[in-house]
Amino acid sequence: MSLFDLARTALFTLDAEAAHGLSIAALRSGLVPACRVPPDPRLKLTLAGLVFPNPVGLAAGYDKNAQVPEAILNLGFGFTEVGTLTPKPQAGNPRPRIFRLVEDEAVINRLGFNNEGHEAAFTRLTALKTKGIVGVNIGANKDSEDRIGDYVAGIHRFAALARYFTVNISSPNTPGLRDLQARESLAALLSAVLLARDEEAVRIGRTVPVFLKIAPDLTEEGMDDIAAEVLSHPLDGLIISNTTLARSGLKNEAKANEAGGLSGKPLFHRSTAVLARMRRRIGPALPIIGVGGVSSAQTALEKIRAGADLVQLYSAMVYGGPGLAVDILRGLSAEMDRLGTTSIRDLRDTGTDRWAARPL
Ligand SMILES: Cc1cc2nc3c(=O)[nH]c(=O)nc-3n(C[C@H](O)[C@H](O)[C@H](O)COP(=O)(O)O)c2cc1C
Repeated sequence: MSLFDLARTALFTLDAEAAHGLSIAALRSGLVPACRVPPDPRLKLTLAGLVFPNPVGLAAGYDKNAQVPEAILNLGFGFTEVGTLTPKPQAGNPRPRIFRLVEDEAVINRLGFNNEGHEAAFTRLTALKTKGIVGVNIGANKDSEDRIGDYVAGIHRFAALARYFTVNISSPNTPGLRDLQARESLAALLSAVLLARDEEAVRIGRTVPVFLKIAPDLTEEGMDDIAAEVLSHPLDGLIISNTTLARSGLKNEAKANEAGGLSGKPLFHRSTAVLARMRRRIGPALPIIGVGGVSSAQTALEKIRAGADLVQLYSAMVYGGPGLAVDILRGLSAEMDRLGTTSIRDLRDTGTDRWAARPL
């Protein structure tokens, strides 16, 4: 039994949120040893003006308050994303609000953007020394009277510190937030956010890339609308996807009824099928980060084949532990050896048609 297997057994006796808090504390204390692999130049990618040492990132929601970005990068991840951050601190929904579905290797959460707010994260990010890629995921307060204004405030607050922004309009746990994906609202949001980004570019002398994170629960028409707006604004990429409200195919029927967003293995199929559909709609130029059920080199590669430039993961860390990024990187390198590929980019889109043809 590995050290992580022992730790996992202990952590799984705790409520999922308590276990998350302990894992953050362990990373902050330095108790989790750094695990890196020698960089593989075939995995290096330049996107939106950023050089990613490898395509495997940690998704938003694990390090909401920017407490451990350096420790995460030391686990081998090519990039990490803090947040979602809202202007004001916010408690989120009542506990319990994170549930493990162990048989399904899945998680359901209805946290509701619990976070310490812009100022606390700003102070931590100011003290960061890493040169690694740390993105900032921004959102709106639940009680905000001007949700678009909250995103604009995020751009102004973090522009000097963020290597990229994620505009998260796809959490299912803030009532009405996903309505920002509707065409007219999305047009207004993107215009305001990208204007703020351009204003900041004049001030800081750097244009910070902005990615839009969308839900997997979209109709074909909904995808058409998002693609049309994305293509008519100078956005830098899409992150596909957030958690799903769907519950099909779960073994753990008792917990399947918990309200919230489902992530992990059962999300893989739907999020990858939406990713491929969006790749077909937006064409080859715009970067896509594929998220949802990535748990291995094989699943990471499938996202890339479906149309992703980069991938992110969260839930699989709960089940696979801190060595997961390194395992995936080793697996990707081995697969490149086997295929004789010199750049991971060459594998992108090799499965787009196959994935786009699969029912959601
Ligand atoms: C406990 C938990 C909290 C999350 N919080 C956020 C968040 O604050 N912002 C966000 O954009 N996504 C959040 N997510 C979604 C993840 O970033 C990711 O999109 C989703 O979990 C699918 O990836 P996975 O299957 O690898 O977990 C959260 C996910 C989980 C499990």
